[in-house]
Amino acid sequence: MIIKVLGSAAGGGFPQWNCNCRNCADVRRGVPGLQPRTQSSAAVSIDGRSWALLNASPDLRQQIAATPELNPSAEDPQRSSPIRCVVLTNADVDHIAGLLSLRESQPLTIYADPRVLSALSASPIFGVLDGRFVERMPIRPDEHFEPAGCSGLIVEAFTVPGKVALYLEDEQAGSDLGTAPGDTIGLKLTDTRSGRFACYVPACAAVDDTLLRRMSGAATILFDGTLFTDDEMIAQGLSPKTGRRMGHISMSGPDGSIAALGRLDVGRRIFTHINNSNPVLRQGSPERARVEAAGWEIAYDGMEVIL
Ligand code: MLT
Ligand code: MN
Ligand code: ZN
Repeated sequence: MIIKVLGSAAGGGFPQWNCNCRNCADVRRGVPGLQPRTQSSAAVSIDGRSWALLNASPDLRQQIAATPELNPSAEDPQRSSPIRCVVLTNADVDHIAGLLSLRESQPLTIYADPRVLSALSASPIFGVLDGRFVERMPIRPDEHFEPAGCSGLIVEAFTVPGKVALYLEDEQAGSDLGTAPGDTIGLKLTDTRSGRFACYVPACAAVDDTLLRRMSGAATILFDGTLFTDDEMIAQGLSPKTGRRMGHISMSGPDGSIAALGRLDVGRRIFTHINNSNPVLRQGSPERARVEAAGWEIAYDGMEVIL
């Protein structure tokens, strides 16, 4: 199995268009040790020829252009793509807006939880994905499926503690903002030949026992690395929201992902969906050193993981 990280940044990307935080200002100026990143997305393939996208970021067109494997090759017909399907983990803008770049009457299957499919149906703009070519398939937690065109790959969705998409938040609904199971899922990706598996969890609000059991034994996990500290955006004057309020567990602290996943039996542990405010984006920072000392890698655009 090959997993390619197409975009390793959280929503907004790095730098974010309207952000002048220290990280964004420095990456814009080309300061060494900082690397621009596009928004959260990955692709997975067994044979290197047929690919499933894991989320479709607003930067998808640029991500495809930067990834030779995702483009038609010389001998392919006039209209073709190695991208066979897209599996969505939530309805956040950074995970669905790229679907609009996949119009053009190309056969494709979109897999998502019914809650996420409803969010797509509620927005008429996604009607550009012509139903004669683009199939929308509900996936349910704990069910296995072989994604269209990707033989040898088995995907299993599992519910993850999380939050409904920002634009669907219902302030009247109480502290969970109207969140329901299925709003955020993780994906277990298994290579049927080797039995090895990876977990892709770009958004996660908390690590519970169910999630630990789910990910135990994975060859690789790609996990929510949005913030280093829960109040990082407040401390930097960027936003009044904590990570918790945004539905993202932080890396550090007693409840953070590094501590919570410390004993997990996995091969590689990789943070992705990293917000531009996160100090780990700066090579040589103490936070980067801490994360790496704890055995974590920081995903970058174009990173390839082979299982
Ligand atoms: C998130 O990960 O919290 C969302 O992508 C935020 C957003 O929609 O901008
Ligand atoms: Mn996001
Ligand atoms: Zn910034």
